[in-house]
Amino acid sequence: MSPAHDTAAVLADATGTDEGALAQARAFKSVYVYEAPVRLWHWVNALAITVLAVTGYFIGSPLPTQPGEASANYLMGYIRFAHFAAGQLLTVGLLGRAYWAFVGNHHARELFTLPVHRAAYWREVLVMLKWYLFLIPQPSRYVGHNPLARLGMFMGYLLLSVFMIVTGFALYGEGLQAGSWADMLFGWVIPLFGQSQDVHTWHHLGLWGMVIFVLLHVYAAVREDIMGRQSMISTMVSGTRTFKD
Ligand code: HEM
Ligand code: HEM
Repeated sequence: MSPAHDTAAVLADATGTDEGALAQARAFKSVYVYEAPVRLWHWVNALAITVLAVTGYFIGSPLPTQPGEASANYLMGYIRFAHFAAGQLLTVGLLGRAYWAFVGNHHARELFTLPVHRAAYWREVLVMLKWYLFLIPQPSRYVGHNPLARLGMFMGYLLLSVFMIVTGFALYGEGLQAGSWADMLFGWVIPLFGQSQDVHTWHHLGLWGMVIFVLLHVYAAVREDIMGRQSMISTMVSGTRTFKD
């Protein structure tokens, strides 16, 4: 096996991508990675999370009372409405994204699976960690997500989003009252945490977890686009990854 072939095999093994795609990447310098539904979902999801974070912050730290007749002001009502609408968009979007993991290409599954049992995967995570810490001069090449990004997206985005959806709908069920669909489906969450205020506190803490994820994610996307010698942000727009070397 030639060294180049060997590297392709290790990367393919580590990332779950097939060798063919990597060979194609080398030959054509450009590979179709993210299908249209994944890209559309990514940007709608980013919008939903941004609305949720801003409106959620104001639900936790409400704005001062507005002057005038109470009946003429509905500011916090609109903020809560936007939060619940964006929460439902996030939920439907994630369900659609999960469906696409079954019917889409193999990169569409990367968000939902982690090859934790493969030593090669963890070796590549370490390589990427060193690259992000400026300890090595060049990163490895990946067609889909790099192994460290995959870890961050699974833990920092997927698990956290599911947590926010479950706790969010539990709180929503309280507003809709006992016996409502949200209470029937998610009512069990409140006694699990203790009482309503505990769920508020954990849901609120989740906001800061999500803020940390988005900051690191956007930093990594911009940094890779400039330093990684491969397209990143435009890949989430056009679907195509271009290798610059
Ligand atoms: C609330 C904001 C955002 C969230 C929650 C978010 C979340 C995600 C998730 C979950 C993925 C994995 C996609 C998949 O495999 O299905 C992803 C990929 C990606 N996101 Fe975001 N994103 C956000 C904003 C942004 C922004 C503002 C940018 C651009 C500056 C960006 C650039 C990218 C890129 C380039 C990828 C693909 C990375 C790769 O190819 O390895 N994201 N994002
Ligand atoms: C990334 C996702 C989300 C973020 C960042 C977020 C953020 C927040 C924050 C910070 C609060 C204030 C908590 C407090 O201090 O009491 C809150 C409240 C709430 N959230 Fe979310 N949330 C998210 C998703 C959801 C979802 C999916 C739902 C489901 C509909 C939801 C429903 C609620 C409800 C019902 C409240 C309480 C409203 C009230 O007491 O007036 N959230 N959210």
